Amino acid sequence: MTENIPERSEFDSVDPAPPSEDNKVATLRNTICNEDEKMFQRMRALFALRNIGGKDSVEALAAAFASKSALLKHEIAYVMGQMQDSHAVPHLIDRLADADEDVMVRHEAAEALGAIGDRTALSVLEEYVNDDEVVVAESCEVALDLLEWVASKRLDYAE
Ligand SMILES: [Fe+2]
Repeated sequence: MTENIPERSEFDSVDPAPPSEDNKVATLRNTICNEDEKMFQRMRALFALRNIGGKDSVEALAAAFASKSALLKHEIAYVMGQMQDSHAVPHLIDRLADADEDVMVRHEAAEALGAIGDRTALSVLEEYVNDDEVVVAESCEVALDLLEWVASKRLDYAE
């Protein structure tokens, strides 16, 4: 591993912050939810939670949807899509369906619902495919196709 090059995560992305070295979900949850913490540290907690995975990590990430930062909420939705964990689905639906939510967050929530590939999100994506916000509507359109594609791949693996 070359020292100066950002580490590639197992998700094959170069993340905007290296994951926190802390591996306790409860501590990471406190960090990501702390509005007084530096955004870089909150991002590090976010990627650590993604890498740890599982229901508790998803719930910790979802708790930080209460943050005021649209950037952070956008990143939360993005990593939930990467995690492909159905526990995130109701939280992402809440963000997409909240008309007062930042458009950037609603768009990423829609795409994450597509990436997870859980058909319980179909009806909500169909509802917002005609959203007044073009970015949200287009994201739902992409997500509907992506969801079907991911869901069909899941069947392939299950066989
Ligand atoms: Fe985005």
